[in-house]
Order: sequence, then structure tokens, then C-alpha cells
Amino acid sequence: MTVKKFLSKIEDLTNKKIVLTGGTSGIGLSFLKYLVNKNAYVILLVRNIKKAENIVKELNYPHIDIIEYDQSSYKAIEKGIDALLDKYSNVDSIVLNAGAMSRTKDLIEGHPYSIGVNYFGVRHFIEYIAPKLTSKTKIIVQGSLVAGFHLNKKTNIDSNNFKTFKEYNISKMCVEAYTYKLIKEKPYPNIDFVLTEPGITSTSITRDLDSFLKHVGKVFVSTFFHSVNKASLTLLEAVSSKAVHGSYIVPRGLFTISGYPKYKKFPKNRIREYLVK
Ligand SMILES: NC(=O)c1ccc[n+]([C@@H]2O[C@H](COP(=O)([O-])OP(=O)(O)OC[C@H]3O[C@@H](n4cnc5c(N)ncnc54)[C@H](OP(=O)(O)O)[C@@H]3O)[C@@H](O)[C@H]2O)c1
Repeated sequence: MTVKKFLSKIEDLTNKKIVLTGGTSGIGLSFLKYLVNKNAYVILLVRNIKKAENIVKELNYPHIDIIEYDQSSYKAIEKGIDALLDKYSNVDSIVLNAGAMSRTKDLIEGHPYSIGVNYFGVRHFIEYIAPKLTSKTKIIVQGSLVAGFHLNKKTNIDSNNFKTFKEYNISKMCVEAYTYKLIKEKPYPNIDFVLTEPGITSTSITRDLDSFLKHVGKVFVSTFFHSVNKASLTLLEAVSSKAVHGSYIVPRGLFTISGYPKYKKFPKNRIREYLVK
């Protein structure tokens, strides 16, 4: 299989409106290029308008809109969603890919930063937009294999003493558990929820890690990783018509670190009901 061959198996997305967060860097930017290749209409929700405008200019593709959106406060999330819904009465898919692995001790809505952006931000987005969506919509949540790293039941997610990487892992564990709950309980009948993981790839997300972890990470990543172009294929698979409510899409390689997308059963030991009350 090659990326080109994989792409040829995904249907054309002309007339599909796809909302994307985190489309200005790394996996999201690579995925955006695939959407352009498939002729989708893309609405980018971004915190840095100038950066997005430069990307759009470079892509030289007419069907991209940009809306300001910052996942680090509930007010800013609501503002972005209001602006989106003012302009578009219906969209086909919403890809919640934006994420951070920050060492800041700043709190977001009372929560540690990365947990605030990656879990509470995503959750607030869904809880705010879902009741307002009247037509059939697919919401795709970007998880991570690190969600399986911290299954210690005594974790207090509001403790602000986490190391950067641990906090990130916990944020991803929470957002995966939350998505699983939405899949199981289906509280919004017209919304299909899909969970994806990209495996591991080198992007700017690790910029805040301690240098030791960064070094170990680099060695690990350069031994086992796949390119960002491959890592973003799970998102492309997720917007295709094959992915339905409850699909969990991960890379097919060893420990789901790398490889082309495959559908998998959600691991039961990652369900942390008490985190997602
Ligand atoms: N890289 C990996 O190996 C890996 C593995 C598993 C999961 N993931 C997940 O994949 C997703 C994309 O990560 P990446 O590796 O591509 O990282 P990245 O290159 O750092 O991209 C992160 C994206 O999220 C946006 N973002 C961050 N904080 C935001 C906020 N407060 N409001 C709005 N947008 C915000 C960034 O915007 P700016 O351009 O303005 O900074 C950027 O577009 C994340 O959810 C990450 O957790 C990555």
C-alpha cells in the first residue's frame, strides 16, 4: 500500500462541508491537504488567523473558510461556534483535532492547561454545539494511544502537579473515555461520534517537553514513527462514508503506533466513567 493508493480508495468529498480544528499545523495541516485533494469545503476553526490565511494562500484553493476559535476558554469556544452556526446551518463533519501538550501551570476553567484544552475544551465544544445541530452530522474526536498509559484509578485530574507528558496522557484518556460514553449512550440521536488515533508522528506538539523526554521521544519516534502524511490518514478515513457512529480508527501497525488506518474495538480498560460524569 502507498499513500497514493490509500487516497484513491477514499471517495471524492465535493459538496461535503467539513469543520476542522487544529488545521494550522502537524497532523491537522496534512489532513487539510487531503481534504483539498478530495475537493471538500473546509471551515477552519483557528486561534491564529494570520497563520491560517498564509496556509490558505499557499494552498491556492477557493473552498476554505476561516473562523476564529480558541479552545482554551469556554467563552472563546462558544464565540467560535456561534460564528460558525451564523454562517452555516448544516455541516457534514466536525473534526476535533486541536490539542496541546503544554508545561504552563495556567489553569483553564479551573483545570490544568492540557487537560483543559484537550478534554474540557472538546467536551464543552460538543455540549454547546450538539443541541444546536439539527441535521445529521459526524463528530470526529482525535484521541491518542497514550490514553492507555495512565489507568491509575486514584488520579485526581484537577491536581496541578502533573509533569507535562503525564498531564497530556490523562487529557487524552479523558477525551477518549468521554467519546466512548457518547458512542455508547448516544445522547444526540442525529450525531454520529467517531474516535481516531494518529499513532505517533513528529510534530510541534512536543515543543514543551523536558529535554530528556524530548530526546528519548525523538529516538523512539525516529525508530518507530510514521510520517505526518500517514498519521493524518485516520482522520481522512473518519470523514469517509465508511466510518459510522462508534467507529474507532487507529493505525494498523504494532501497538497502533504506525501504519494505514484500521477499525478496532474500543479497549474496555480505558473506560473511566468517574472522569466523565
Ligand atoms: N503527534 C503525535 O504523535 C500525536 C499522537 C497522538 C495524538 N495526537 C493528537 O493529534 C492532534 C494534533 O496534534 P499535532 O501532533 O499535529 O500537534 P501540533 O502540530 O502542535 O498541532 C496542534 C494544532 O492544535 C492547535 N491548537 C492548539 N491549542 C489550541 C487552542 N487553544 N485553540 C485552538 N487551536 C489550538 C494548534 O494551533 P496553532 O497552529 O495556532 O499552534 C495546531 O493547529 C492533537 O489532538 C494531538 O493530541 C498527536
